[in-house]
Amino acid sequence: MNIILVGFMGSGKTSMGKKLATRLGYKFVDMDNLIEKKEGMAIRDIFRKKGEESFRRMERRILEKMARKDNRVVATGGGVPCGPGNMELINRAGISVYLEVSPVDLFERLKTRRAKRPLIKDLSEAGLREFIETTLAERAPYYRMARFTVDGSSRDVNKILKVLKA
Ligand code: S3P
Repeated sequence: MNIILVGFMGSGKTSMGKKLATRLGYKFVDMDNLIEKKEGMAIRDIFRKKGEESFRRMERRILEKMARKDNRVVATGGGVPCGPGNMELINRAGISVYLEVSPVDLFERLKTRRAKRPLIKDLSEAGLREFIETTLAERAPYYRMARFTVDGSSRDVNKILKVLKA
């Protein structure tokens, strides 16, 4: 069984995913990492050289591959659930968990971690606040298609383990 973490940038998919994998004895995979390895360049360079549309196609291909594997904790990129049919594929591939974090907390986490993220790297603080508000509102309906929603504000992996065991 795979556990697939979804949620906004900065919601803790990677950090909590690693801890969760250790606790469960599963392999941890980070979709962004797999794409960077395959393309031989950083996400921001993929966006710059190949464009976002091309990146979204790469995400879909990696997702399809992942769906054929087992016993993995997967950290998805924040935009993956919004691709056509992607949440359906995620839900067929394993147990999905949405790490829900408020826009205020996301802002605090992301304001010092913009550089690697092409969608926010050039935004001012005010711009980042607005981006989080509008983009989260657009994306939340997809994130909520996850089987479970867990409060991600405390980065407490026990909260995920609890819903998985319930
Ligand atoms: C993106 C989120 C990023 C990365 C890319 C696009 C998004 O992943 O895939 O920069 O569209 O929200 P993280 O959620 O791991 O930051």
